[in-house]
Amino acid sequence: MRDFDEHNITDAVIDRFGDTPDPRLKAILDSLVHHLHDFVRDVEPTFDEWIAAIGFLTRTGQMCSESRQEFILLSDTLGVSMLVDAINHRMPEGATETTVLGPFYLDNAPHFASGADIAVGMAGEPLYCEVAISSANGTPLAGAIVDVWQSDSEGFYDVQRTDLDESKLRGRFTADDQGILRFWTITPTAYPIPHDGPVGQMLIATNRHPWRPAHLHFMITAAAHEPLVTHVFVDGDQYLESDAVFGVKNSLVDPYPVQAPGVAPDGRVMDGRWRRLDYKFGLKPMPA
Ligand code: BEZ
Ligand code: FE
Repeated sequence: MRDFDEHNITDAVIDRFGDTPDPRLKAILDSLVHHLHDFVRDVEPTFDEWIAAIGFLTRTGQMCSESRQEFILLSDTLGVSMLVDAINHRMPEGATETTVLGPFYLDNAPHFASGADIAVGMAGEPLYCEVAISSANGTPLAGAIVDVWQSDSEGFYDVQRTDLDESKLRGRFTADDQGILRFWTITPTAYPIPHDGPVGQMLIATNRHPWRPAHLHFMITAAAHEPLVTHVFVDGDQYLESDAVFGVKNSLVDPYPVQAPGVAPDGRVMDGRWRRLDYKFGLKPMPA
């Protein structure tokens, strides 16, 4: 076939993929060509705009390295990451809602015993956390593995700082017989997502800010349950309504209540103001 025009080219391209042996790949390509061509017909880009778009995607790829994934950041800031997350995590009653993983998770975080302080000397407002892990039906999950990571009081993760030679504000815990673990840390603060690349330029060009509201990250795994990747956000944060990556859910916002000086639950004497986080996580059982 020849003489392709703006009306018949879409079907011609889809036809050309007609012999794709993998039916899922074929369905994805059919849909991609349909939506991409409709997008182009809708926008009617000039050649300069088309070249600018190619340049943006090229720079996005060139920004990627071992420690930087600009395409995921683009997906995050376009709301695609949260859309994929929502489609894949339709949760039953009693299961905690999920949100984005983000780029700062490390799978080799140091192990800590319950009660430890993961701030290891980092400055900030002390925070005592007690978290309970159960199955969605409320059965405690003894031995659940809980990874925690967060930003420091200046809004940086340990992996972003060049002045640290060990990990800070991250750790891996094992829940006790009741599915509970306790730890000390510092109250997290809001921080900007990495915005010194093409995604940052997109945010500037569209009058968007790069900030995420303060949160603790949790990744929780337990036998026969789907892994849970989520955050607990600090209520009152000014960016809860405008998170740069659309990750906030009401059920994941906690007051982190401020505590007066006194004695903490583990006997630690607190001279100044501190906070508490008490949070219950429910995991979705794997299908039998
Ligand atoms: C984070 O919460 O660590 C994060 C998530 C998405 C993009 C950048 C950072
Ligand atoms: Fe984060």
